[in-house]
Amino acid sequence: MELNLEHKVAIVTGANRGIGAGVARQLAQEGMRLVLVARDAAKLEETADDLRRRYGVTVLPLACDLREGSSASAVLQQTIGRFEQLDLLVNNAGATRRGDFFELTDDDWQDGLALKLHGYVRMTRAAWPHLAKTNGTTVNIVGVGAWTGIGEFTIGGAVNAGLMNFTKAMADLGKRDGVRVCAVNPGRIKTDRLERNIQRIAQASDIAPEEASARLLNECGINRFGSPDEIGLAVAFMASSAASFAQGAILDIDGGETRAI
Ligand SMILES: NC(=O)c1ccc[n+]([C@@H]2O[C@H](COP(=O)([O-])OP(=O)(O)OC[C@H]3O[C@@H](n4cnc5c(N)ncnc54)[C@H](OP(=O)(O)O)[C@@H]3O)[C@@H](O)[C@H]2O)c1
Repeated sequence: MELNLEHKVAIVTGANRGIGAGVARQLAQEGMRLVLVARDAAKLEETADDLRRRYGVTVLPLACDLREGSSASAVLQQTIGRFEQLDLLVNNAGATRRGDFFELTDDDWQDGLALKLHGYVRMTRAAWPHLAKTNGTTVNIVGVGAWTGIGEFTIGGAVNAGLMNFTKAMADLGKRDGVRVCAVNPGRIKTDRLERNIQRIAQASDIAPEEASARLLNECGINRFGSPDEIGLAVAFMASSAASFAQGAILDIDGGETRAI
């Protein structure tokens, strides 16, 4: 299938590890020029070097904290300064705290919202005029926790449900402005975030991580965990000309965890 992404320019947030790094790899494989955003500058540079070496693409790493109000416009300024265009924004950087609802504090909620909700909103606002010029695309990485309320995932669930509505609302504006907006909902993907969750289950139940892992798979009703590159492939498709009629589409990539319609 021809994706027509070669030489186009993408920003991927949260790109120095996990799902964001998987997305960056798949887009680099398609020949896209990339702007990678995260806080850890050394790890970003490492990821950028790996992509340059493996795929021969141009990569601009930008270290910043997307919870800060001014960071989105700074990222866009540097992107346009370097590449003079933007074709794809992948909003991915997110970290909402899990745990007992009654132990989560206002600060935990504010921190989760600051990055995953306000970060996505600000990046979308700053990128929009540039995406309108190129008939570009935004892909929001949300999460299947949006569909199903889980007692120990109140912050992530609420933010993700909101982001699905935000995706649909921006897709509505995108018809007017020539921007496509879609979302990919990962299920349980093997990243540091999932490893931390497995460790937490293991400690809470005093069991080995392997047993916690098997218990989680069983609870989710899935046969295996997904990989960051499997989410990257879905993003590449959503961003491509092959998906040009997909507007406001929300794609679950979760090994069948979501059973509701
Ligand atoms: N893994 C899963 O199973 C799963 C399932 C559903 C949804 N998701 C969603 O997928 C996205 C990625 O998850 P992941 O599992 O890949 O997470 P991860 O492994 O924890 O990676 C998070 C990425 O975001 C960056 N980041 C964190 N805080 C940041 C900040 N304040 N400013 C800028 N960048 C920041 C991190 O780099 P630095 O720390 O260097 O900043 C890292 O690159 C999240 O939105 C998550 O909610 C994941």
